[in-house]
Amino acid sequence: MSRKKQVRLIAITHATGSHPRGWRHPDSPARPATDAQSFIAAVQELERGLFDGIFISETAGTMPGPAEAHQHDSMINDSLDPTVLLSAIATQTKHIGLITTGSTSLTQPYTFARLLASLDHISGGRVGWNVVTSRFETEARNFGIDPRLLHGPLRYEIATEFVDIVKRLWDSAPVNARTHGPQNEQAFDPSSVKPFDYRGTHFRVSGALDVQRPPQGHPVIVQAGMSEEGRDLTAREADIVLGGGWNARQAREDIRRRAQGYGRDPDALIVLALLPYILVAETRDEAEAQLRAFTALLHPDERQQHGILAGSSTDIADLMENWLDGGGADGFAVGFPYLRGPVEAFTRLVIPELQRRGRFRTEYSGTTLRENLGIPLPPARYDAVEPNRMRAP
Ligand SMILES: Cc1cc2nc3c(=O)[nH]c(=O)nc-3n(C[C@H](O)[C@H](O)[C@H](O)COP(=O)(O)O)c2cc1C
Repeated sequence: MSRKKQVRLIAITHATGSHPRGWRHPDSPARPATDAQSFIAAVQELERGLFDGIFISETAGTMPGPAEAHQHDSMINDSLDPTVLLSAIATQTKHIGLITTGSTSLTQPYTFARLLASLDHISGGRVGWNVVTSRFETEARNFGIDPRLLHGPLRYEIATEFVDIVKRLWDSAPVNARTHGPQNEQAFDPSSVKPFDYRGTHFRVSGALDVQRPPQGHPVIVQAGMSEEGRDLTAREADIVLGGGWNARQAREDIRRRAQGYGRDPDALIVLALLPYILVAETRDEAEAQLRAFTALLHPDERQQHGILAGSSTDIADLMENWLDGGGADGFAVGFPYLRGPVEAFTRLVIPELQRRGRFRTEYSGTTLRENLGIPLPPARYDAVEPNRMRAP
């Protein structure tokens, strides 16, 4: 009998939980947004549950509108830089993937190529990059950028060049320090550095990365674009797609078809359906009681459409299996309304249920995020730059 399709699992959460009001729960630490230690403890719990990764989103600016309108939102208006936070998490974990978010509209490719290469070394090859183009005017203003750049297809033209350059920078990096033995006088083999000259429409980069090639070659690329241009970038460049929604099956087929159109093996693309907030308990009644207690903390307008999935481990595992076998997803990006009780309940109840059903690993199979996800190392490209990109800036 063929092996049942395996569930891929990443957790999408901030230190305050996945729900903007998560910090209000009495179990939340007093200063959750800046309390790296409690967040590290939650990620260690996810690692005990053998999660593929932890994913932290980023908005580099406060929510639009007056501060009073958002005084109850901790997640967006008050959170640590995800890459810095993941660097601390990297030293306190061994296996779990560390997916940060970085905007292609706000920074330069070199900045991000170096940050991610560094974190990939610090973590022993566990880094992923959620590629975003950013959304809010406040973000553009923080970086002195014209807010119109964040809207329309142009932002994905910029993103396409940005990702291309970041990958080229990773490929340009020195490979093998001290490989010729301890007697060797060289810190690295100079012939392994591959400088390049990139002249695009939006960026001009001439150089090479000064961090050793990342252990994963290229950290894992994650994308959640919904627009035509966003899905095209995903199909071309991403290893993990965050999608789902009610027409998940069509969306997955669409992205797989696009990937094939770019000459990729569609099975190499991992499509994760979003389950934004999960509450699980021994029984459905108990989970629903937890749900009532949490929704009581919400503003009355939010109580109807809270989007929280509450149930027993059987309920959650049934739903996941149906989704997987129905072709809607290769796994799930799950969130927890608050930390850290719901994380403990998930790893204690849902993970063993999925394992009993032959759907989830019983130990990490590799040491890097790529190995655990079954994505091969990318070959380095040393071609200079394709002629069709050689346009004058
Ligand atoms: C699960 C998920 C996480 C996301 N995280 C971020 C984020 O951290 N920062 C951000 O600016 N956008 C984030 N986005 C927005 C997407 O990157 C994307 O802009 C959005 O899905 C709309 O698609 P489009 O850009 O192709 O129009 C996220 C979207 C989803 C579904």
